[in-house]
Amino acid sequence: MTFPGPVLAAPMAGGAGTPALLAACGGGFLAGGYLAPDALAARIAEARAGGTWFGVNVFAPSPTPVAAGALRRYLEELRAEFAVYDLTPALPSAPDDDHWAAKLDLLLADPVPAVSFTFGLPPAATVAALRRAGTLVLQTVTTAEEAVAAAAAGVDALVVQASVAGGHSATLTPEDLPAPVPLPLPGLVAAVRAAVPLPVVAAGGLATSADVAAALHAGAAATMVGTALLRTDEAGTSATHRAALTAAAVSAAAVSAAGHDTVVTRVFTGRPARALRNGFIDRHDATAPLGYPQVHHLTAPLRRAAATAGDADRVHLWAGTGHRHAATGRAAAVMTTLTAAL
Ligand SMILES: Cc1cc2nc3c(=O)[nH]c(=O)nc-3n(C[C@H](O)[C@H](O)[C@H](O)COP(=O)(O)O)c2cc1C
Repeated sequence: MTFPGPVLAAPMAGGAGTPALLAACGGGFLAGGYLAPDALAARIAEARAGGTWFGVNVFAPSPTPVAAGALRRYLEELRAEFAVYDLTPALPSAPDDDHWAAKLDLLLADPVPAVSFTFGLPPAATVAALRRAGTLVLQTVTTAEEAVAAAAAGVDALVVQASVAGGHSATLTPEDLPAPVPLPLPGLVAAVRAAVPLPVVAAGGLATSADVAAALHAGAAATMVGTALLRTDEAGTSATHRAALTAAAVSAAAVSAAGHDTVVTRVFTGRPARALRNGFIDRHDATAPLGYPQVHHLTAPLRRAAATAGDADRVHLWAGTGHRHAATGRAAAVMTTLTAAL
């Protein structure tokens, strides 16, 4: 199986990932998450026009239920945060599935080169239908056990995501995080390769060309980067997020007692995700319930208002542990740096 290059652009939902970023990187994955089906169709058209190989990433339904009482308690806890922007928090309606059926219909009616799934495993029949349409199907996994389950569902290849990655963990069991002893990416790639005979795209914490070389050496067919691209010209990263990354890159002030200025937290969306540590995390990490997508919908209006106001203290600042290496400038230059040692 060949990918367009040794380093691909990772899917980044919520604005950071753009078709222009894919084109500048020479290929990668378009984020389908959070988009309405017609917005996804428009993004696919833009990616096609960019002329590079691309896949579409889709959130497979995997709701983590939250008790109504726990959600209500969290809402009350967040009331003061919302009041900063004269907002009143509202209980979200029943969990939605991010337009799962409509997105699948779109991808089957007008097939793209590849589709990757995260959060959940799609039914084997869905995988088979996409493959019949000529689409390469990938599943994001975080352990060898998840790789075995993905192989059983019939996927062509895996995205192996280490826990140092920025953004949401792809874990199929969000209630079990964090893993007691997280494996570094090359070790995780080797473990997955030993468990299943599928090609692997390695992701998580790749910040230098030595990191990329180590992942390839461990048996990955290609690698994928997200955080390394967040500050580039072509990324759609918000100004507030960019400013926070810039500040974190030059300051040791945010480094926690554990020595990490990024943490895995569920405070923003109810699903574990790695972000730059900020006040919102410090205030709510101990009490926020698991509960995706309910918690995502509950906090979204606050995060939107804070991002608009430049208030990095109340925004989900997704970032992997390698964020200090994330460079500004053209994405193509970042790609050149990341492949220099290959
Ligand atoms: C801002 C941001 C948004 C992300 N959104 C998605 C997404 O929509 N789907 C997905 O599968 N992974 C998503 N991820 C995870 C990336 O695809 C990838 O696994 C991760 O960025 C790799 O680790 P790195 O950030 O250390 O390079 C996101 C990551 C970031 C930083």
